[in-house]
Amino acid sequence: MNSAASVTAKPIRVALLGCGTVGTQIVRLLTEQADELAARVGTRVELVGIAVRRPNKHREVPAELLTTDAAGLVASPDVDVVVEVIGGIEPTRTWLLAALTAGKSVVTANKALLAEHAGELFEAADASGADLYFEAAVAGAIPLLRPLRESLAGDRITRVMGIVNGTTNFILSAMDETGAGYAETLDEASRLGYAEADPTADVDGFDAASKAAILASLAFHTRVTAGDVYREGISAVTSADFAAARALGRTIKLLAICERVFTTGEDGAPEESVAVRVHPAMIPRSHPLAGVSGAFNAVFVEAEAAGQLMFYGQGAGGAPTASAVLGDLVAVARNRVVGGRGPRESAYADLAVRPIAQASTRYHISLDVADRAGVLAAVAAEFAQHEVSIAAVRQEGRATDASLVIVTHSAPDAALRSTVDKVAGLPFVHDVVSVMRVEGEDS
Ligand code: HSE
Repeated sequence: MNSAASVTAKPIRVALLGCGTVGTQIVRLLTEQADELAARVGTRVELVGIAVRRPNKHREVPAELLTTDAAGLVASPDVDVVVEVIGGIEPTRTWLLAALTAGKSVVTANKALLAEHAGELFEAADASGADLYFEAAVAGAIPLLRPLRESLAGDRITRVMGIVNGTTNFILSAMDETGAGYAETLDEASRLGYAEADPTADVDGFDAASKAAILASLAFHTRVTAGDVYREGISAVTSADFAAARALGRTIKLLAICERVFTTGEDGAPEESVAVRVHPAMIPRSHPLAGVSGAFNAVFVEAEAAGQLMFYGQGAGGAPTASAVLGDLVAVARNRVVGGRGPRESAYADLAVRPIAQASTRYHISLDVADRAGVLAAVAAEFAQHEVSIAAVRQEGRATDASLVIVTHSAPDAALRSTVDKVAGLPFVHDVVSVMRVEGEDS
């Protein structure tokens, strides 16, 4: 390979904030692939400093690069690009705003920060002409944000539906395979290192909600923050839910769903809005997302002209996440070499975000009921009363009671909730075994 001949511009000098699992892999790849990266960028990409909290804990990276002064490193005139893999909101937000304000491009994997403060970061980037790239913030190694920001920029995206959290997908896949309950499967995932010591951000859906906000913002050209995302985690999913799903050829996944919604306003005019939600849902086993097992991520994108697209791969881990960071670093370095910029924030559509009560989905409701005349009719009457249309009913008699499964057509969340409350109070309904949204089927 003869790369040196084409590498003539000034080197691009990089500061790395954080050197954990991902940071260590970034340092390794930057070192091992230095010549190839130089050839791809058109100049050398040099690591000039690594900010960490405890330098004596990082024997695997060159000691002379380590500093505890992240703010000083960001402010250094010897830095062109800041790569951030620390996470959290503060002080990271302050450091990245300082970098962007000073015209230094930023590459970050920080989903929580992007899901709260993307607008402010983009404004700082615009003011100075710097780049802000964040491919690693959603679905790790999977090239997903660049396709949304660039490859699909000529299309209209209608829906993004994905598995964007590996920990919960590992747990749900294991529950499906073994028939075990949630608590014991979480314990096993922790023992195997698939769940953090404090798994709250993953199992309660916060991590997926941040990613959903980022995906929705890019897909619909609208600022969506984590607070706009309806969120339910997986801790209430039971082995009975899985049994109910299995009986009808379905499985359960924690899905992040971002949709463009078309409605008619009170004045009869067409209205467009977005709905963004994270919750467990039953999907048919034939759906492409049903086959995504273990800690893998996958995202299904629907666009008006492109049709259906599927992105699949590793959503976490040192080397996979470093791959996405390095891809961004090459892009911002190239932009600096040629004097251009990557895509800016695109929030021109400024669509309203619909509350979950107005979101419509299909539901699967499993009940234990008394097995006698009139029960089915009375349950069905409650659905009719709330204008929730029934798509399918399945009843299995047991000794003195029966299992009754009702699948609805698409219905507003609020109507379904009221229906289930009423049904649960009927004297011959012994138990509401499972209530779950159904996705990936015609409405
Ligand atoms: N904790 C995340 C997951 C990875 O389990 O997928 C980082 O976003």
